[in-house]
Amino acid sequence: MNKKTFYITTPIYYPSAKLHIGNTYTTVAADAIARFKRLTGYDTMFLTGTDEHGQKIQRVAEQKGITPKEYVDVMVKSIKDLWKMMNISYDKFIRTTDDYHERTLQKIFTKLYKQGDIYKGYYEGWYCTPCESFWTETQLVDGKCPDCGRPVEKTKEEAYFFKMSKYADRLIKYIEEHPGFIEPESRKNEMLNNFLKPGLQDLCISRTSFNWGVPVEFDKKHVIYVWMDALVNYITALGYGQPDDYNFKKYWPCDVHLVGKDILRFHTIYWPIFLMALGLPLPKKIFGHGWLLVDGGKMSKSKGNVVDPVVLINNFGVDPVRYYLLREIPFGSDGMFNNELFIKKINSDLANDLGNLLSRTVAMITKYFDGVIQPPTAKEACDNDLIESALAVPKKVEDAVDSLKVSDALDIIWGLIGRANKYVDETAPWVLAKDEKNKARLGTVLYNLAETLRIISVLLSSFLPDTSKKINKQLNVELTTWDSIASFDGTKAGSKVVKGESLFPRIDVKSKLKELELIHKKEQEKAVKMQPVKDEITIDDFEKIDLRVAKVKACEPVKGANKLLKLKVEMAGEERQIVSGIAKYYKPEELIGKSVVIVANLKPVKLRGELSQGMIIAAASDDDSILHAVEVPSDIPSGSIVR
Ligand code: MSP
Repeated sequence: MNKKTFYITTPIYYPSAKLHIGNTYTTVAADAIARFKRLTGYDTMFLTGTDEHGQKIQRVAEQKGITPKEYVDVMVKSIKDLWKMMNISYDKFIRTTDDYHERTLQKIFTKLYKQGDIYKGYYEGWYCTPCESFWTETQLVDGKCPDCGRPVEKTKEEAYFFKMSKYADRLIKYIEEHPGFIEPESRKNEMLNNFLKPGLQDLCISRTSFNWGVPVEFDKKHVIYVWMDALVNYITALGYGQPDDYNFKKYWPCDVHLVGKDILRFHTIYWPIFLMALGLPLPKKIFGHGWLLVDGGKMSKSKGNVVDPVVLINNFGVDPVRYYLLREIPFGSDGMFNNELFIKKINSDLANDLGNLLSRTVAMITKYFDGVIQPPTAKEACDNDLIESALAVPKKVEDAVDSLKVSDALDIIWGLIGRANKYVDETAPWVLAKDEKNKARLGTVLYNLAETLRIISVLLSSFLPDTSKKINKQLNVELTTWDSIASFDGTKAGSKVVKGESLFPRIDVKSKLKELELIHKKEQEKAVKMQPVKDEITIDDFEKIDLRVAKVKACEPVKGANKLLKLKVEMAGEERQIVSGIAKYYKPEELIGKSVVIVANLKPVKLRGELSQGMIIAAASDDDSILHAVEVPSDIPSGSIVR
């Protein structure tokens, strides 16, 4: 009999920057789901990969003085290394620079052109390079990208367009008739009401102002728009439109496209419409998960709050990281990350609840029975609740994973861990051990604990694969199949447990936090590339520069200039105005009240019509992503000389 199939995808990642812990969520969640489906008997295809074309990549490579391909090759390797480190069990890794993908994409474009869905015109409007998305004037928010809030660029170029409008009504009808197609429900409504129902504009689908992309077959000065390039990966990876399309026939339509909420629009509007135009069935589900936020909100290089997954894995191991991600982002909502929350969660859930349950069980079997698991011959009524709970859990976990509630699945498993810990207290094996006549009962209690742990280990194998293996090793478990946890008898009496290291040693929160802070600092220092020091100057040259402490009294943006702030500063009673290009790094109110250092004798200039009498001294990172104005403690009076 043919196995049931299951096809799950993650978005393909931009290899334009090192991945942070938030980025890894989609892939870790997809991995847990894929592993679970394999465990429960599905022939599973788990696809991930990299989205390597576009203006953003081309620019980064140019800044580094290498070709885009050289650049992505290095970055893709680091992404693959990270997935290996995180135990990601993908079945296929697609790169949009792969030959077969590029050729098929070209064929798709030509087909859509020939059938009249694509036409040539002019694009005039705004482009957000970080998001690689087009916007009309009215869609901008305060003149910026409505998705990410960053500045947009005006573009006018000859371009091909896709007739989105032709398919809009069909898509609305489809979404309304297929309740599970977009999830969560709230995001489905957002897509319908904010994007589809107000009317779809035709989509600009090629670019001519840069060339790092897949050329249109019949008009080579155009490269195909990156989002079209990226989205079709979900079918080109399976062999669609290629001589060997066995996997496409087997796995399409996809069961779940798992994506972050930020890119749901592309997946629920453009992608289904492309598929409709190709005459292909639509994916069964597109799920937009929430974000992992850090204390100040979104993780971003410019805020300096990016959390490096490699640092966490090196310090705590991979399963604590997987556990935190999977447990912390509840179905459809956002989760929070900071080092303290993370360490405390390891201590409470992993070290205390799970680690202790295993170490206590193995230690008692070792102490009382020389490590040999006893047959459960002396059952008592109070065992039933534990056994019933253990037998009920697999179905509950399966239901949770099937509805993509991965965090709920872990809650349910932890419920069973809690139940087993309670059972230890209820049965008090150390009391039973005091009397030889309780030997059979003691053996039964420990059997029940070992068997519950075996069930827990099978359940955990999709989420924390390494931990599951460690539990099996200590308990000497042989039966690890899904079917084997349908009954409470898979542990073999007579087999011997093997006491091992503690699964999760308790961590001293305070000292570990300090250690992490130091690592973070060192990492940041390492990231600085030493620029050549400028030509020597004499002390007399230096004396010419008049550096002063100035107190910021008022600050506001300069109208029509995204980058500039206008500051009123005071030096020993004297006021002056300085225009500074630091709007990207400070909100005006953040600067008011600060004592900064200025070059006081710089020749005044006019910037955007505003007089600037001096310059604020600031330190910036190599790539300008982080900048801090140099500050002076407030007990130094304004006007003081800095030397
Ligand atoms: N290249 C596009 C996807 C094309 S798919 C046809 C892209 N890539 S990405 O590298 O920017 O994002 C990869 C994934 O990381 C997305 O699912 C995105 O939502 C997710 N996340 C980025 N930051 C995140 C958090 N802070 N938290 C959780 N997920 C986040 O978009």
